[in-house]
Amino acid sequence: VQVLIVFLCFLILVFAVRPSVTVTVDTDASTEGCESNIAICTAANGKPKPLVSWSDAPSASKSTENTTSQINGTFTVRSVLWTVATRKIHDHEVFCVVKQPLIDTSILVPFRLNVTYAPVVKVLIVDEKPNEVIADCEADANPPASHYTWRKDNERILETKNIQTEGSRMIIKEPTPSINGFYFCEAVNSKGSGFASLYFYFSKYNYCYAYNDNKLALLLSRRKYFLCT
Ligand SMILES: *[C@@H]1O[C@H](CO)[C@@H](O)[C@H](O)[C@H]1NC(C)=O
Ligand SMILES: *[C@@H]1O[C@H](CO)[C@@H](O)[C@H](O)[C@H]1NC(C)=O
Ligand SMILES: *[C@@H]1O[C@H](CO)[C@@H](O)[C@H](O)[C@H]1NC(C)=O
Repeated sequence: VQVLIVFLCFLILVFAVRPSVTVTVDTDASTEGCESNIAICTAANGKPKPLVSWSDAPSASKSTENTTSQINGTFTVRSVLWTVATRKIHDHEVFCVVKQPLIDTSILVPFRLNVTYAPVVKVLIVDEKPNEVIADCEADANPPASHYTWRKDNERILETKNIQTEGSRMIIKEPTPSINGFYFCEAVNSKGSGFASLYFYFSKYNYCYAYNDNKLALLLSRRKYFLCT
């Protein structure tokens, strides 16, 4: 029996072939909301047939597998991981795990998921002094937001000495009641755009503002979000 086992091990060492494992996607990235391939693992030219599975895959994902065999007796296994892409799984790391019957080391290949999505925008007050307020339009987007626009009461802001915009930022200097009103910023990438608003009110020596990361529809309920500093 021992002789047989040694002989079998010898056969395995001689005839087993470790596959080469790669993980890719067939498009650059998955678009949010679409059911798509999020990762494809290929274990190429292994003998005996490699067993392919996924580790740390998003909970709602599934995989489908396809095996082809070569004339020289090796197998190529292609496993496609797919799900409805969401921004929550963007940048998540999954692992393709390849095992081979009779050989006990497994191969683990990491892969970072890439999901593209339109900007989700927030207004943040990044600096605040008695005579100057700087608001920033912060966008979570993939690819990154390519440009930002600030508007007041739905019109593009005409820069004055009181109001200036610089990329994602709007700077309010020496506030006067003439600047009171509703401002909103829009961030755009190739997947779409996102909005957030800022209500600014100045009277005498004090100002108040309200901001939220909600879409335009919430402009109507602005009073609910009103805060005073
Ligand atoms: C994710 O996909 C986008 C859009 O195709 C691409 O521009 C970006 O380089 C990709 N990111 C990574 C880390 O692969
Ligand atoms: C399996 O892969 C082969 C080669 O890439 C392809 O021709 C075939 O259509 C695939 N079969 C399925 C069911 O995906
Ligand atoms: C088996 O054939 C494939 C495709 O023809 C080739 O890429 C691979 O290197 C071969 N493997 C061995 C061990 O001969």
